[in-house]
Amino acid sequence: MNNLNFVFKSMTEILSQNENCDPKFEANLLLEHIFGKTRLELGPDYQVGDRDEVRLYELCHKRREGYPLQYILGSWQFFDLDLEVGEGVLIPRQDTEDVCYAAFEYINKFANPNVLDLCSGSGAIALAIKRYCPHANVMALEKYPEAYKYLERNIEKTGLRVLPVMGDVFNYDWVVEEETFDVIISNPPYINPDQQGKLQKEVSFEPATALFAPDKGLRFYKFISHYYKPALNEGGYLIFEYGYDQAKQVRQLLFDEEYKIIKEIVDTAGNPRGIIVQKL
Ligand SMILES: C[S@@+](CC[C@H](N)C(=O)[O-])C[C@H]1O[C@@H](n2cnc3c(N)ncnc32)[C@H](O)[C@@H]1O
Repeated sequence: MNNLNFVFKSMTEILSQNENCDPKFEANLLLEHIFGKTRLELGPDYQVGDRDEVRLYELCHKRREGYPLQYILGSWQFFDLDLEVGEGVLIPRQDTEDVCYAAFEYINKFANPNVLDLCSGSGAIALAIKRYCPHANVMALEKYPEAYKYLERNIEKTGLRVLPVMGDVFNYDWVVEEETFDVIISNPPYINPDQQGKLQKEVSFEPATALFAPDKGLRFYKFISHYYKPALNEGGYLIFEYGYDQAKQVRQLLFDEEYKIIKEIVDTAGNPRGIIVQKL
C-alpha cells in the first residue's frame, strides 16, 4: 500500500510520456473518477489500496497510448451539460461550443423556432440549443447506432426535450417533404480523408464515420446547403461548423447556393470555425 502523494507522482510520470496530456490535471480527474473524491478531499496521506493503485496505473498507461481521457471518464462537459461519451461517439469540442454560442442569438430571434441538428452524435448541439433556447422545437438526426445510443441517453440524462431521429443525411426526402425549419445546424464529418493517420493519436480512437468526409471533407456542406434548402423557411438560418482550413471553400459554396452570409464564427484562437447564413 502506498500513500496518495506517491501514487499521484507516479501517475504524473506515466502521463507526462504523452505530449497531449496535462499530467497533473488528468491525474486529478482520474483519482476523482476512481474514488469519487478529489485529491484534496482524500489528503496526501490517504492510503491507496493495491487494487486501486494498479487500476490507476492501468488508466494512465491507456492515456499514455492516446486513449481519450473523456472515454475513460465516460462523460464530458458541454456548456453546463454533463454528457455521456464513449467509444463510437465523437467527443464534444470547445469549437462546437463557440459555434453554438453564436447560434443561440439567431435561434432566439424566432418565437418558437423549429430547429434541425444534422449529424447529432452525442446530441451536444441539439441539447445545448434546447438548454439555452428553451422555446425551440429541436430535432436531432444521427445515422450510426453506436452514436445514436449516446444521443438517446443524453436526452434522457439531461431531461431536455429533443426529438431524436435515426437517419441518414443523404436520405433527405422525408425531411424536406414533412417539415420546414427556421434553423438547420450541423457539425458534420469534415476532415479530408488524406489526413487519415496524420492526426493526433487521441483522434484515432474516435469513429472514422464521425471524422472523415469525401470530396476533401466538403461533401456534407455541399449536400446539405443544396438539398436541405427547401426545408429551410425563408429568412431561416443555416449554420455550419467547419475545419480550420475550410472557411474559404464553405463560404464560396454557400454563396453559390445564394445564401446571404450573416456571420463568420471565430474560435478563441482567432481561426474561422463556422458560419451562419440566411435563406432569402
Ligand atoms: C463531427 S461529428 C459531430 C457530432 C456532434 N454534432 C458534435 O458536434 O459533437 C459528426 C456526426 O455525424 C454522424 N454522421 C456521419 N455520417 C452521417 C450521415 N450520413 N447521416 C447522419 N449522421 C451522420 C457521425 O456518426 C457523427 O456523430
